[in-house]
Amino acid sequence: MNPHYALQVNADGKLRHFLTVEGLPKELLTQILDTAESFAGVHAQQVKKVPLARGKTIVNLFFESSTRTRTTFELAAKRLSADVLNFNIATSATSKGESLLDTLHNLEAMQSDMFVVRHNASGAAHFVARHVAPHVCVVNAGDGRHAHPTQAMLDMFTIRRKLGRVEGLKVVIVGDIKHSRVARSQIHALNILGAEEVRVVAPKTLLPPQPESLGVRVFHDMDEGLREVDVVIMLRLQKERMAGALLPSEQEYFHLYGLTEKRLARAADHAIVMHPGPINRGVEIDSEVADGERSVILQQVTYGIAVRMAVMSMVLGNQASSLREGE
Ligand code: NCD
Repeated sequence: MNPHYALQVNADGKLRHFLTVEGLPKELLTQILDTAESFAGVHAQQVKKVPLARGKTIVNLFFESSTRTRTTFELAAKRLSADVLNFNIATSATSKGESLLDTLHNLEAMQSDMFVVRHNASGAAHFVARHVAPHVCVVNAGDGRHAHPTQAMLDMFTIRRKLGRVEGLKVVIVGDIKHSRVARSQIHALNILGAEEVRVVAPKTLLPPQPESLGVRVFHDMDEGLREVDVVIMLRLQKERMAGALLPSEQEYFHLYGLTEKRLARAADHAIVMHPGPINRGVEIDSEVADGERSVILQQVTYGIAVRMAVMSMVLGNQASSLREGE
């Protein structure tokens, strides 16, 4: 059996942890999107809460910086009525040399139900999932350059909301694919959900070895790669993950790979522009496009709350049944 599947899915086919999109069946991804749809209206209620996770304790364990992901996980947990603990790594005993496992076991001893983990080491969330007590669920909020599954699912949700479906669409991802966990998760999700074509556009220095093996069509020319696509996803240059100088200069990069209105005209008329954030204006995207009418960048952030509510409520629901089994 696929090892990613076995670690994330219960014997009865239900999501137990959410660590990576890779290896999950289309039905499970669709269930996440459908569940998110049912939460998309919660923010418009007078009381922006549903009681699904009342009495549960969710710990945000962020070992790496984050703006959107951490805050939307926190909001999502609160809108599910859970108690949320934001574990501050800078002031925690991790900085006194405590190992990740010891920190985890201490948090478990406080009867936590879920860990939301972000870490700069690829595989960190899988490691945590393998070592937590059986009643604890783990959600990956980004591990190294490996995976960022809730980001990919909120992107799929945005595409479905804006264009009605993912199936049959042509999607291009432009930029630093090599260092991007977001791109890896998006590529898996798009292929599982039946996109017609997933393209990547990047200079050779910003692509992993054998990029085609990811399930994409590779372009080095931006104008070619944008032709007739339904969705344009822009990525930031992840300079903090670059070992050496992979680019001549930011100006040169913008000249070759920056998204401008003129370039966007190559895409289909109905094409939408997405970006996981943080955006670097004038490096990978022109302000006119980022703030333009085809941009759905801020809606991605809003939808991120409903998608994270969906994932957390699903894994918590399945945690409860596994507890009963063990009684
Ligand atoms: C991304 C991340 O941290 O992986 N941002 C995010 O979660 N929205 C992408 C990035 O840092 O460029």
